[in-house]
Amino acid sequence: MSHPATERNDGDILLEARGLHVSYGATIALDNASVTLRHGRITGLVGMNGSGKSTLFKTLMGLIEPQPSPAARTPERGQVRFPAHAPVGKARNFCAYVPQSEAVDWNFPLTVAEVLGQGRRGCPHRSPGWWRRGHSTADRRAIAAALRRTGLQDLAGRQIGQLSGGQRKRAFVARGLVQDADILLLDEPFAGVDAASEISIAGVLREVANSGVAILVSIHDLHTIDRLVDDVLLLNRRSIAQGPVERVLTHDNLRAAFGEGIAR
Ligand SMILES: Nc1ncnc2c1ncn2[C@@H]1O[C@H](COP(=O)(O)OP(=O)(O)OP(=O)(O)O)[C@@H](O)[C@H]1O
Ligand SMILES: [Mg+2]
Repeated sequence: MSHPATERNDGDILLEARGLHVSYGATIALDNASVTLRHGRITGLVGMNGSGKSTLFKTLMGLIEPQPSPAARTPERGQVRFPAHAPVGKARNFCAYVPQSEAVDWNFPLTVAEVLGQGRRGCPHRSPGWWRRGHSTADRRAIAAALRRTGLQDLAGRQIGQLSGGQRKRAFVARGLVQDADILLLDEPFAGVDAASEISIAGVLREVANSGVAILVSIHDLHTIDRLVDDVLLLNRRSIAQGPVERVLTHDNLRAAFGEGIAR
């Protein structure tokens, strides 16, 4: 991947969110949640079902607006900031997002390569109307590289509805990769994939992080997490702790995130 992030120093903050509050009606999904993402680092997002992980991704992407916290005396809202960037209107320009589940019509006659082409459409360096003119050489190269990295090169021409669940997951991870973003947000990319795919996706994420991208990835398996990520953010509506794996996954923090039933 080539992008301006490589000019930065490891550890520079690319995304910082503080005081995020989101409710769906009476259900509080995020309550004073915070997250910091740094250049070149992979952060694992860990929390039980319903702890607000997917809501956090959507809020970071600007798909959900943070709301004023009912506990606060002022109507102040939490903020998502991108300190290393000039002020911009939308996070979407430089964040790539791979959702937990895709709102996709699996019968639509779209091939794997075309799904990746959609990812290139979202790139900030595309000029308007490029899609109608077709893919550039750079687009084709990026698509071929992402197919290769995710082991999907032999399935490039296959209709997406004819992929297995794990292959679909890899196709959408590949779509995230072709966007050449500075920040990559992946909501459960390892769910439903086999051990070989998990290893290959993990390898790709490490390569991408080494090129300077800041990655946030939600993960359920705590046994393999220290091989996959640099930092962990433990979430239980609020952010319990964020930092290096061993410092964050302490007994007390895990109890705050999961209750008494968890042992690492
Ligand atoms: N669109 C919605 N409308 C109403 N409630 C919602 C909606 N989306 C999520 N919720 C609720 O908000 C809370 C947080 O949901 P969220 O999907 O963010 O959790 P999660 O940590 O991603 O869970 P999982 O591990 O199961 O994916 C849950 O109680 C959920 O039921
Ligand atoms: Mg979720």
